[in-house]
Amino acid sequence: MSVLARLVKSSLGKKYLMAITGIGLFIFVIGHLLGNLQIFLGPEAINKYGHFLQSTPEILWPSRIGLLALVTVHIVAGLALAIENRQARGQSYDVKRVVDASMASRTMVLSGCVIFSFVAFHLAHYTLMTIHPEYRNLQDAQGRHDIYRMMVFGFRNPAVSVFYILSIGLLCWHLSHGVGAMFQSLGLKDEEYAACIDRFAQVAAVFIFLGYTSIPVSVLAGMIK
Ligand code: HEM
Repeated sequence: MSVLARLVKSSLGKKYLMAITGIGLFIFVIGHLLGNLQIFLGPEAINKYGHFLQSTPEILWPSRIGLLALVTVHIVAGLALAIENRQARGQSYDVKRVVDASMASRTMVLSGCVIFSFVAFHLAHYTLMTIHPEYRNLQDAQGRHDIYRMMVFGFRNPAVSVFYILSIGLLCWHLSHGVGAMFQSLGLKDEEYAACIDRFAQVAAVFIFLGYTSIPVSVLAGMIK
C-alpha cells in the first residue's frame, strides 16, 4: 500500500486531511467576508470587485476547483472519521478514547451537514441565480453584473435573511470548535497555548458572525438600499 493510501486509511491521516482542508476553508471564509464587506463602500466597489473575479477566469476557475476539492475532502474525511468513531463505541475504552480525541464530535457532523445545505442554497441563490433568474439581468451603469442590487433584493426578504443569519451562526459555532481541533490535529496545541488557541477560535468565530450578518441586518434595517 502506498504511503498516501495508508495515510488516507488511518485515523491520523484523515485528521490531517480534515485540518489542512479546514485551514483552506477558513481562509476562504475570511476572504469571502472581506470581499462581501465592500458592499458598505457602495455599489461601485462591490460591483467592480465582482466584475474583476468574473472576468478573470485564471483566478476564478482554479479557486472554484480548489474550493470544491477542499469541501469534498473535508466532508469525506469527516464522515469517515464519524463512522470510525461510532464503530469504536462498541470497542474497548482505549480504542474509543484514541478515536474520540482525534475527530470532531457528532454535533460537528450535524452542523457540517446543515452548512453544506446552506452553501447549496447560497450557490443557487447568488452564483447560479436559479432561485431568482431575474437577478441575471441586473446591470449597473457600466454594464457590469449589479451584485449590490442583487444582495439588496435578496436580503429584503426577511425569511431569506433569517435563514442566512441562522446558517452563519451555525457555521461560526462549527468554526469555534473546528479551529481548535485543527491545531490539535496538527500537533500544534500543546498545553501552554491551548487556552490561547481556544480563545482565538472563539473571537474569530464572533468576528466572522458579526461581519457576515451585518450585511442582511443592514439591508433589513434600510441602511443599505
Ligand atoms: C451575508 C453573507 C454572504 C453574502 C452576502 C455572500 C455573497 C455571495 C455572492 C454575491 C456570491 C456570488 C459571487 C459571484 O458569482 O459573483 C457568493 C458566492 C459564494 N459564496 Fe457567499 N456570501 C455570504 C456568505 C457565504 C458563506 C458563509 C459561505 C461559506 C460557508 C459562502 C460561500 C460562497 C461560495 C462557495 C460561493 C461561490 C463562489 C464562486 O462563485 O465560485 N458565502 N457569495
